[in-house]
Order: sequence, then C-alpha cells, then structure tokens
Amino acid sequence: MGTVRLIDPHGGKLVDRTGAKPETTAPKASIKLTEWQQCDFEMIGCGAMSPLVGFMGEADYHGVCDNMKLASGVTWPIPITCAVDEATAGKVSVGERAALTDDAGRLLGYLTVKEKYKQDKQKQAAKCFGTEDVAHPGVKNVMASGDWCLAGPIDVVALRHNPMFSDHRFTPKQTRAEFQRRGWNSIVAFQTRNPIHRAHEYLTKCAQETVDGLLIHPLMGATKDGDIPPEVRMKCYEVLIEKYYHPDHTMLSVMPAAMRYAGPKECVLHAILRQNYGCTHFIVGRDHAGVGTYYGTYAAQEMMDSLPPGVLKIQHLKFENTSWSKLAGGMVSEKTFPNIEGDRVSLSGTKVREMLMAGQRPPVEFTRPEIADILIESMRSAK
Ligand code: ADX
Repeated sequence: MGTVRLIDPHGGKLVDRTGAKPETTAPKASIKLTEWQQCDFEMIGCGAMSPLVGFMGEADYHGVCDNMKLASGVTWPIPITCAVDEATAGKVSVGERAALTDDAGRLLGYLTVKEKYKQDKQKQAAKCFGTEDVAHPGVKNVMASGDWCLAGPIDVVALRHNPMFSDHRFTPKQTRAEFQRRGWNSIVAFQTRNPIHRAHEYLTKCAQETVDGLLIHPLMGATKDGDIPPEVRMKCYEVLIEKYYHPDHTMLSVMPAAMRYAGPKECVLHAILRQNYGCTHFIVGRDHAGVGTYYGTYAAQEMMDSLPPGVLKIQHLKFENTSWSKLAGGMVSEKTFPNIEGDRVSLSGTKVREMLMAGQRPPVEFTRPEIADILIESMRSAK
C-alpha cells in the first residue's frame, strides 16, 4: 500500500477551532445558539467549513449572496451567520467576546465579535434559495432569524454536549486519518437526508466501482418537520451497510450540518464540505438538496458544471433519475434504458409514506425489506 495523498481542504488549510478551555472570567454576554447555529458552530469548529474560522462578516455575506465568493475570492455559496435579535446584539460590543451556549445553556465556546451588521434576508432568500416564498423551509428559517449578525472567529470548548452517534461522528481530521489508514486515494461521498432506497444504493455502488472507498455521509443536523428522524435513519444505514455493502470499501460517518434545502447552491456547499472531509468525488443525482418544486431536476448538476475549473478540487459525479426497470430487470436511468410506459417501479414520496403508515412494505425494487420494516416500525411507534 503506497502513501495516500489527501485532497487539499477548500481554501488550502484545514481549520481546527477546538481545544479552547472555559475562561475563568466569563464574558458578560452569553448567546444561546439556535439549533441551526449550533450545527454551523460544530461544522466551522471541526474544520468542515474550512476556510471559515467563524461566523461571516458583512463583506463575506454580500460577496457570497452576490457572486458566491468570500471577500478573499474563495468560492462559497451560502452565508453562514450568527443572526440574533436587536436586544441580544445590544448585549455585546465589537471587540468583546461572547460566550456561546446550546439550548440547555451549556457552554459551547466563544465568539470574538469583530463586526455587527444588519442582514438582508430578502436578498439572501432570492440569491441563495432562488425564492422569497416563506413556505420554503430554508427561507422560513432565514426569515425567522434575527435581523443582526454577530461576526468573528469562534473558539470551541465543546463541539456538542452529548452528541448523537458519537462513535460515527468523525471530524474532517478523523475521516482524513481513516482514509489514510485504509489506504484510500479516491473516495466518493454520498450525501443524503433520507433512508437509503434502491435508487440511492445504485448510485453509491456505481460510483464505488471507480474509486477506492465510499463514504456514506448522511446529513444529521437540523432538518425540516416531516423528514425521517436521525435515529431511525441511522438504523437503516447500519442494517443496509451490514447486509448489502462491502466493509472494506465502505465507511459510515454522520455529518452534523443543518439542511437548508437550497438545491443548487446547497449542492456546492455539500461538495465543499465533503472536500474538507477528504473526499475526492461527490455524488449529485436528481434534485439534489431540493424541496417541493423550487428547483429543476438537474439544476444542482448544472450549477456544479458552471463552476470554473479548479474552483473546487472535489469532482462531482452526475446521475440521472434512476429507478427499477421490470424489462431490464435492474436499476436504470434515462441514460441507460429507454423509458417505456409502465415499466419503471417509481413511487412518489407520499405514496411510500402511505404504504409504510399502513404497515405495508413498498416493492422490493424500491426499498429493501429490512429498511421497509425499520420505517414501518418507527411509524407505528410514532402514532
Ligand atoms: S438530498 O436532499 O440529500 O439531496 P436525498 O437523500 O433524497 O436528498 O438524495 C441523496 C442523493 O441522491 C442526492 O444526490 C440526490 O440527487 C440523489 N437521488 C435521490 N434519489 C434519486 C433518484 N431516484 N435518481 C437519481 N438520484 C437520486
């Protein structure tokens, strides 16, 4: 096994803001982070959002909204901010430090406030989400956030207190070390916020054929109501990997990011994050990170294609809409098999949910029975 040459982090250097100790004289201001902000805090702190070292300042905020660039010129698609209401913003002055806590008031770390500015929510919604519709879950979150942004570097005392899946919550440093240990030179990352159905499985395995390793990297931070809860998804991933994947070429790690549902722009973010985790390739299928009908089926792929060469080091692998073909006897896409009426086993999300709620397994061509059973059981106990 030769030496593994790991991919460069986005912006060139892997950030690590961990290692701070609780300060003996606590800052006078203490800010309770929202669930979203806690996710961002963890992602920045562990280096997954390199080159960010903290919450974005005003020049970065506008550069990102207007031309997908930080003030430094580095590509970045979505603002990462610590937005607070006016009263909270008034508690801390520029140049001071603020303690950052979780909902239970436990200390997470510190923010050195370098700037305070008013955010432009309408602009952010229009530019990053492509809509100002508050029915969009990401836009709704932005609109509900405070008007003021506190910006500056963070120092992390605890990435999270009692995190879920701590044995599968690898930081970029840890995934990189693990890739090196396994001798993987090329690694494809798979983003998902769902259980892995047959279409997902097909994409991961097609991609896996051409690289050394597959990182199944479910997003496990804040998601919208109605998405399958993390602990249920985790059970699905574990069972599926154990039964249907090769352990020597597959790794599972959770990504503690919040889901923004920003479609194409979030796809760019997802790719950057995976580059920071050390992955060389990234799967982009249909309507990546989309919700409802806000984005075109292949808008995320087009956005990735439109980035100038070299802006990201990670390479995206595009997949068309895939489903089971009865005639072909396997998973196919528009690209690999003609679309013949009535041939494809494709079910809407609503239909699948109805079946599971009624205790029925969807067809095996859609979901493995083991996964269907976990989902049926979770719905039964949630009733
Ligand atoms: S996402 O919000 O994380 O993108 P999801 O978990 O459904 O949602 O999708 C994970 C990845 O699989 C995304 O890259 C998505 O584009 C892709 N994908 C999901 N279903 C299909 C499908 N039937 N055909 C092709 N790609 C798909």
